[in-house]
Amino acid sequence: MKSALFLAALSASVNAYWLMAVDDLFDGVPQRVDPLVYPGQRAGHVHKILGGKNFDFEVPTSDVLRQSECTTTPIAEDHSNYWVPSLYFQWANGSYSSVGGGAVIYYLFPDTAGSTTPFPDDFRMLSGDPSLRSFNESSFAQQAVTYLCLNWDAGGETTRHNEIPVKDCPAGIRSQINFPSCWDGKNTDSADHKSHVAFRSGGPDSGDCTDPNFPVSIPRIFIEIYWSAQDFTTFKSQAKNPSQPFVLSNGDELGYSYHGDFLNGWETATLQKAVDQCNCNMYGDPTCCGDAGVFTYDPDHKNGKCTKDLLITDEPSTGLIAALPGVDASNLSTSASEDASSSTSASAAAASSAAPSSLNNASASSGDSGSREASSSRCSTIKREERDVKRHARTHHRRRDFTFGSL
Ligand SMILES: *[C@@H]1O[C@H](CO)[C@@H](O)[C@H](O)[C@H]1NC(C)=O
Ligand SMILES: *[C@@H]1O[C@H](CO)[C@@H](O)[C@H](O)[C@H]1NC(C)=O
Ligand SMILES: *[C@@H]1O[C@H](CO)[C@@H](O)[C@H](O)[C@H]1NC(C)=O
Ligand SMILES: *[C@@H]1O[C@H](CO)[C@@H](O)[C@H](O)[C@H]1NC(C)=O
Repeated sequence: MKSALFLAALSASVNAYWLMAVDDLFDGVPQRVDPLVYPGQRAGHVHKILGGKNFDFEVPTSDVLRQSECTTTPIAEDHSNYWVPSLYFQWANGSYSSVGGGAVIYYLFPDTAGSTTPFPDDFRMLSGDPSLRSFNESSFAQQAVTYLCLNWDAGGETTRHNEIPVKDCPAGIRSQINFPSCWDGKNTDSADHKSHVAFRSGGPDSGDCTDPNFPVSIPRIFIEIYWSAQDFTTFKSQAKNPSQPFVLSNGDELGYSYHGDFLNGWETATLQKAVDQCNCNMYGDPTCCGDAGVFTYDPDHKNGKCTKDLLITDEPSTGLIAALPGVDASNLSTSASEDASSSTSASAAAASSAAPSSLNNASASSGDSGSREASSSRCSTIKREERDVKRHARTHHRRRDFTFGSL
């Protein structure tokens, strides 16, 4: 655990970026689907799934994704899919309540036009490892996963952790993952969905593509999820583990197994233009790139919110649930030899009036009540993120070469 968190190293190679608030494709209902790792079948655990509507049990090609009727990203030419595990609060009796979360996705890339190659057709990748239950600090892949314990109170301090924070987080928990951004230039996928890509020379968020086996610089994707963990603070005494009551959807109570998946569904020419030209706002606000015609920025989803019917309907995954879908209760993470015996006998998914109504709210609630921007119609998640970023930038007098991805 580190608390000196905004000492992000400056990086010569990453300057420009944009960030975008992205909605859940299944309207906040995580689905036990992972076409990359479990093609054609139910996945081992549920995920929060974002992006193009043609997501499915089988991996869609880039062409199929591009034909999606809509996307939950605010950039109309991005029909990619992104997914991460979801988060649950674990009650003492073995039941779980889903934690709502809002997503922000960053695209980071060097300022120099021509230096970043867009993802090729059918490009896919996985960052992180769902089987990890320990931390290896010299592994770039593990450095790519971090958590912030958000605290925006006056005098409060936001802290960064390699595991799910073991403390109260007044403004919630932000899980973060960096994807590799150096590509072998040949393979669009690999057996482990990782071997065709590598992290940059300085780690997940700094350096260059200096390894001759991975010479091609692709956009760096960084995904943040703002989990409304603070909604549960008053219920901690009723948790199975009151000091750290949360668990990832795969049963990991430590958080080292957090991971992210990406399927390319971009219009290639648009992504090329974006990494060459989208460089006009030091806080990553994509509005100016939209105005300049680099891409179609549509944060309000003018043609209607993009959602998709559930792929799995017989397996509750939100609200109060008796077990984590797909996860053997006897195999919950860690060292803990805590009692998980009651979870298998509980009846599934009784909607309980005991659970607070806010617990199943998929929209991230704002942790900053004094917002000057409260009347704006723009998405609350991105507003909060921009505020957060601006505050950091002000505090640390940084310019655009601040490596936000390392927060
Ligand atoms: C138990 O968890 C480990 C680590 O994630 C996994 O490899 C194994 O398949 C799981 N076993 C069962 C029965 O779920
Ligand atoms: C930790 O990560 C480093 C770098 O990837 C690797 O060389 C080393 O073998 C890992 N250690 C363990 C115990 O897995
Ligand atoms: C477990 O505890 C929670 C919180 O008190 C309650 O809402 C839920 O109904 C309980 N579940 C079972 C199966 O008793
Ligand atoms: C969910 O949260 C949003 C934003 O905080 C709020 O406007 C909405 O009323 C909430 N919905 C429920 C069902 O609690």
